[in-house]
Amino acid sequence: MNLLEVLRGRFYQALENWAPDPATAAALVKPATDSKFGDYQANAAMSLGKAMGKPPRQVAEELLARLKWDDILEKPEIAGPGFINLKFKTEYLEGLLSQAAVDSRIGISPVAKPGRYVIDFSGPNVAKPMHVGHLRSTILGESLARLLRFLGHDVITDNHLGDWGTQFGILIHGYRTKLDAENLKKNPVAELARLYVEVRKDFKTAGDEDEGTPGDPVQDACRLETAKLHRGDAENIALWQKFMPACLEEIEAIYNRLDVHFDHVLGESFYQPMLGGVVEDLLARGIARESQGAVGVFLTEEGPPSLIRKSDGAFTYTTTDLATIDYRIREFQPTDILYVVDSRQALHFQNLFETARRWGRTGTDHGPRLVHVAFGSVLGSDRKPIKTRDGKAVANLDQLLDESVRLAGEIFDANKAEDADPSSRSSVTEAVGMGAVKYADLSQNRTTDYVFSWEKMMAMEGNTATYMQYAYARCQSILKKADVTPETINTKASIHLRAQEERALAMQLLRMEEILLVAASDLRPNVITGYLWDLAKAYSVFFQNCPVLKAPSELLPSRLLLCYLVARSLRLGLNLLGIRVIERM
Ligand code: ARG
Repeated sequence: MNLLEVLRGRFYQALENWAPDPATAAALVKPATDSKFGDYQANAAMSLGKAMGKPPRQVAEELLARLKWDDILEKPEIAGPGFINLKFKTEYLEGLLSQAAVDSRIGISPVAKPGRYVIDFSGPNVAKPMHVGHLRSTILGESLARLLRFLGHDVITDNHLGDWGTQFGILIHGYRTKLDAENLKKNPVAELARLYVEVRKDFKTAGDEDEGTPGDPVQDACRLETAKLHRGDAENIALWQKFMPACLEEIEAIYNRLDVHFDHVLGESFYQPMLGGVVEDLLARGIARESQGAVGVFLTEEGPPSLIRKSDGAFTYTTTDLATIDYRIREFQPTDILYVVDSRQALHFQNLFETARRWGRTGTDHGPRLVHVAFGSVLGSDRKPIKTRDGKAVANLDQLLDESVRLAGEIFDANKAEDADPSSRSSVTEAVGMGAVKYADLSQNRTTDYVFSWEKMMAMEGNTATYMQYAYARCQSILKKADVTPETINTKASIHLRAQEERALAMQLLRMEEILLVAASDLRPNVITGYLWDLAKAYSVFFQNCPVLKAPSELLPSRLLLCYLVARSLRLGLNLLGIRVIERM
């Protein structure tokens, strides 16, 4: 149930055939800025006053006379210059909650016109240990996939692995010069990680191997191996094939831990056979041209071109991404392709999308919408690399997740119920640990840099996963004390919203669909965390003021049902963030 849409629909009807541009005016129905004045407010009268040449308050009055409201709203009130305050009738809210209680989607409808989304996320460069930088794309992408899927869209997730880059030249060179063959047999993942680190130590300058330092013999040797691989050298291809399973095993373990799943893992290597054809086609259509031995797409007169083939014949990140767009359109016919990638790649995507447009793959009337879902960096509190609580640097993602679980263990031991089941410790701490890391990330506005803080993310009070997981477990424990389960609770019991705290909680519960639609259209999971925080606060106020287990008998079933709806809403919201709930904490 989308209350905002219901109101906008009513206003649209009232405005139609009377005011100019009814859709724009109806869109000016908004959540109330202060719940003192109502649940929602309509702000159209001011601008309509200008357009219609009447005083806004008069417009508001005429509009109200045309509005059908009496079945769902208290009498609307006009305030100030012409705001219309809207407050739902309590019986109406009670009826909607009763419907939600018996609905498997707690009353949240799927969208009327589903799209088909390809979501490109995570995409680590394999053969290097995954680090915190990969976390954001992975967590954000998974959450967006879950959200869009829940809203009824067709979602295809694709992990565009960097599995063809210069890091393989490093591994091949390490394999030839530093291999511990025994170790490779026993523990290939660890041996490859070791080779990568050992070779990098021999680089004269640290930094990105893609840039390289000319004249550094080790870097030159690595580059040579990469070039041989890309030319199809049989030996290097065989080594690449030998390394890939171990590389995949390493990242798989992390994805499993994070409960992240992909429909496809089509890395850069998959597109190699198509790259020559892409360059030829762009040349033939006059979209790309040669310049100093290289081939580029010249998007602006003055600026540097977007290179799609370098003078040494090597293809680029852009060439691969063009082939990927072409493939995805043919294979999946998506309405949207989302790239959940660091904002530092903004220029790459801007150029890529413009090239795809010139290539005829997308346009205003055909092809998918291409969106760079950009995000900022993860920083340590001192703007330096992230550390454990005792100050040791966290080198890779696995260590970071271990640290989070360790801290969750401290919380568990300090707070566990007396009758806690010790065998649940590891599953609880894993869920709390993963939840904390994910929620901290998702609750930030994705476009800003985010400062990683163990203290904040583990806090038991505040807008954290731990708090939400506790709130959920508390609801479950009340239901258990009342001796009801999801199977036995009377979902058909009538709901009574007598106390003001009950009504406020009901309003929060009923706003979830509206919120999820905003989160989906902005592609911002922090809209969901903000909602969960408001819901948890409304629940806590309700709980402090309205006894549940000791409620008068005519109110007990209704209050239990409210707890049950809160639990389901929290669980759904957390699930859309990729966070597990815990039945008992
Ligand atoms: N492997 C890339 C990187 O680490 C990210 C890939 C993003 N997806 C894409 N289609 N370009 O920077």
